Order: sequence, then structure tokens, then C-alpha cells
Amino acid sequence: MKRAILVLWALTLAIPEAISQRALPAETEAQKEKRLQWWQDARFGMFIHWGIYALPARHEWVKNRERITTEDYQKYFDHFNPDLYDPVAWAKMAKEAGMKYAVITSKHHDGFCLFDSKHTDYKATNTPYGRDLIKEWVDAFRAEGLGVGFYYSLIDWHHPHYTVDRVHPQRANTKEEYDALNQGKNMDIYRKYLKDQVREILSNYGKIDILWLDFSFPGEFGKGRDDWDSIELLKMVRQLQPGIIVNDRLDLKDVPGGWDFTTPEQFKVQQWPEIDGKKIPWETCQTFSGSWGYYRDEHTWKDKKQLLVLLIESVSKGGNLLLNVGPTGRGDFDYRAVKALGEMGGWMHHNSRSIYGCTEAPQEFEIPEHSLLTYNPHTKRLYIHLLDYPLTNFHLPGYKGKVKYAQFLHDASEILISAPYGHHMQGSKATENDLNLRLPTVKPNVVIPVIELFLE
Ligand code: GLC
Repeated sequence: MKRAILVLWALTLAIPEAISQRALPAETEAQKEKRLQWWQDARFGMFIHWGIYALPARHEWVKNRERITTEDYQKYFDHFNPDLYDPVAWAKMAKEAGMKYAVITSKHHDGFCLFDSKHTDYKATNTPYGRDLIKEWVDAFRAEGLGVGFYYSLIDWHHPHYTVDRVHPQRANTKEEYDALNQGKNMDIYRKYLKDQVREILSNYGKIDILWLDFSFPGEFGKGRDDWDSIELLKMVRQLQPGIIVNDRLDLKDVPGGWDFTTPEQFKVQQWPEIDGKKIPWETCQTFSGSWGYYRDEHTWKDKKQLLVLLIESVSKGGNLLLNVGPTGRGDFDYRAVKALGEMGGWMHHNSRSIYGCTEAPQEFEIPEHSLLTYNPHTKRLYIHLLDYPLTNFHLPGYKGKVKYAQFLHDASEILISAPYGHHMQGSKATENDLNLRLPTVKPNVVIPVIELFLE
């Protein structure tokens, strides 16, 4: 008996991590798939980065980049008064762009809270504006039928007990310097604050669909799972909001149940991301220009075709696109964002059938020249997105016997199917197994025309 107790005790010592890992809600693959289903079908969401950094208007990392002290940063708090804030208009723009959900920064790295928190004074309700920005936002976005999500920064450059690290505005060079800077700081206090605030945002605003925690950077002078107490934090999240979908930046990539989807940021994935050969849920987050927060003098804005390709290409590799808007200090969207959203919405109005509920095409379908494929497994339709409009005869390699009917998606006009054109001629690689589509010579009035194939 005594021995058995000893063995048990030794086991607890040896695998404390495994024990707490087990405490994360266990879920089968099928259950997880079901939980994520609405989000995977949605494919397109809006990211919103908003905070007092909209006033300097030169990147949401301005406090870090310019190594601004908390005292000097205070002027943005004192002058924050977004009198034009109209979340109802924001929600309408998101919806009209074809977006199905949205994620807003409840707190970013600078520590400023858009929500009314009991645990800090550093919040919107104490600025000249004086209102809880999150409350109104949640109501407006829900009213448009959009999924609602919160971004919450694990990093905090304002909290007095948050230790200075290598991505902190007051970062140092040597261990001695860090030790001196961090004397008297107690991360236990910050860890509690972080947990208390996440509890607040997941308790005070009804059902929250997505939680976007940002970000871990383990290693020397870095922070990771132990600094955030990631497992306990996530356990609380799952308890408060059992259906919620959580990103992968808690530094729990190797822990079962430690994340729901991966988050390639600001680059186009070349293939569907995998772990151990298994395709995993993913969402790429992207900006219109180079910055997440409002940046007045940043002019590298992507054009409408680039943005649409980003969306289509993400879906063609089984992923989502979370496209960011950085509202101004007055509280409205930059005119360039309004224009881009409108253009995307124009395309989505006629072509969203190739996006919602769609995913990567089955391997048997070769990708025709200069195009991107998406596929709806429920309706068994294949979508060919024409990135570079072809000449009249459009070649579908190996498609013979697989296609019942073809039409343009935007106007449901028939596209005639024939045997491969010129397959007996030199310069052609076509074979008897291919098909040909007879396209109009003139490109339809659509940025990226889509062909809808009804499969056998
Ligand atoms: C990075 C940046 C941050 C931005 C985020 C969006 O982690 O730190 O500013 O919020 O990316 O994914």
C-alpha cells in the first residue's frame, strides 16, 4: 500500500505537464471538425486593429519601434476621442464585402483596453471618449449575423509587472541590464491580470466565437507557455466558452487540444499546412497595406486583384482569409479600406459560391493554365478562377468524362464543352482524355471570372 502511494507520488512528479494536459477538454477529431465547421465554411473574415496607436498613425508597434516610454505614450490616451465611431457602419461594410466573421483587438501590445475592465484604468472608458467600444461593436456585428471574435494581446507594454523582454519598447542588451530593469517586477501579478481580463472578455459580452491570443516568443529574453500559464488559461477559456475557436499562439503547438487553427501571417502559403503529414485548419491574416493599425503615410496598398487572389488562393488550399482594417483615430475606416472592401464585395456578390463551403479541389483535377481551383464537396462543383483571361479555347487536362455542365458563375451563361481543340496538331500537348471550353473572346466584366463545372 505504502509502495503504491509512493509510486503514484513519483508519477505525479514525473509527469505534471502530462497531467495538466489531460485536463484540457478531450475531443475527438470528428467533434473538433464539427466545432470548426461554420468557420471553415465561412472562409472570409475581418480583422480589426484599433487602439490609441491610431493617433500617432505610424504602426501599432510605434511604442516599441520608437522606444517610447509609458509617460510619453500617455498623450495618445489623453487625446483618444473617436467621435465618428459607428460600429453599425463597420459591420455593414464587413457584411457587404462578403465577410462572415470579425475579430477585433480587445487589447493590443501597448496594453490599452477597448473594453471596460475592472482590473485596469488603462481603458477606453477613461479616455475622453468614455465608452466601452467593445460592447457596441459586439452588438453591431452580431446584428449583421457575423461571427464575433476577440484578439487579446498576451504581450503588455503598459502593465507595471510585465517584465521587459526582447520585444519590449525598453528592451536591453545584456542579462545584467534586463535584471536591473526587471527588479521588483512580478510576472505572477501580470499572469493573474491576463487571466482576469480574458475571463472578463469571455464573460461580459455573450457568446464569443473566436479567441485570437497574440503572441509567444520563447527563448532568450522571450516569453512562452510558462509566462502566460498557457494551459491553465486555455482551460479557463474552454470552460467559459465551450464552442470557441482558438488560434495557435499560446506556445502549445505540441499539446493535444492546445490550439484549433494555425495562423500564417502576411505570406501566401504554398500548400495546405500540415503537421506530421496531416492537413490542419488554417487562416492567414493579412493587411491591406503593411501595417495593422492605422498608418497615415503607408502607401503600399494591395490592389483589388491581389486581394481577391489572396482570398481565392487561400480557399484553394483549404484555408481562410482574415483581412485587416485599421480604423482611424476618429473611428472610421480609411477611404482606401472602404474602396477595397467595396470592390471585394462587388466580386463576392456574384462569385461567393466558389468561396463559401469550398476547399481544395480533389487531386485528380489538374489545375488548368493560369487559374486557381476551388471545390464544393457538398454540391460537387468545381470552380476555375481565371487569373489571366485565356483565348477562346480553354484546355482542361484529363477532365474528359468528369464534367456534366459548365457555366460562368457571375451570370449563369452556358460555356460549351467540346473535344480538346488542336490536339492532333503540333505544339499541343492535349490528349483524348482532355476537354475544351469555348470561352467568349471578350473577357466578361469581372476582375477574376469564375467557371462553374457541374461534375459527374
Ligand atoms: C503580429 C503583430 C501584431 C499583429 C499581429 C496580427 O503578431 O505583433 O501587431 O496584431 O501580428 O497577426
